[in-house]
Amino acid sequence: MPSKVITIDGPSASGKGTLAKLLSKQINFDLLDSGALYRAFAFFTNQGLSHEVITKKLSSISFILKHAKVQIVSDNEDITNELRMERIAILASELSSKSLTRKLLLPIQRGYGANSNLVADGRDMGTVVFPDADLKIYLDANIEIRAKRRQLELQKRGQEVNIHDLMTDILERDNKDMRRDISPLRKADDAFTIDSSNLSSEQVLNNAIDEIKKRGLI
Ligand code: C5P
Repeated sequence: MPSKVITIDGPSASGKGTLAKLLSKQINFDLLDSGALYRAFAFFTNQGLSHEVITKKLSSISFILKHAKVQIVSDNEDITNELRMERIAILASELSSKSLTRKLLLPIQRGYGANSNLVADGRDMGTVVFPDADLKIYLDANIEIRAKRRQLELQKRGQEVNIHDLMTDILERDNKDMRRDISPLRKADDAFTIDSSNLSSEQVLNNAIDEIKKRGLI
């Protein structure tokens, strides 16, 4: 039986990662955090590795759910913290707009959905990478809520950030993601939209599960 794919796209800090993680756990699908792949591409490029070596490394990354957190493991090494570094995020954002990067990552991302049921989150999962996905979710939330969530997330990691600076950063990233020529962030025509502005992560999960059941995917 062909594997089933559920995609989750949306702007920065809309809760895609949280929904992907909760869904993957609840319905027992594998997880693909495509943003982490772009970050890993940046991380390995920064180490001066060749595209051939990087391709091999990216194809074998595992996304492991542990204590409600996603651990990113490459060659038995946990690289989660390295990928969270701001300079890697900036480099990832820069490299992600280049056609060479996207061409290299496209088959790698599709490979994750080849043999197993998958929940994939990112910016172009439903529009470009998995256009035939069984369910495409577009997750959105208003900018104030997204900035507040990101602030709480950073506070938990001991970082204090001004809410207005965060809003500016997030809007700048949205703009870049939506306006780039290749694979811009946009809602797929056949996407199921969830606005998470006034919903808890549990409620967002329940909305998604209802739709998944409606479509007979579980
Ligand atoms: O989602 P995250 O912040 O980890 O993504 C890192 C970078 O990769 C972002 O700047 C985003 O623009 C890019 N990205 C992308 N396409 C995806 C996922 C992420 O261009 N499918």
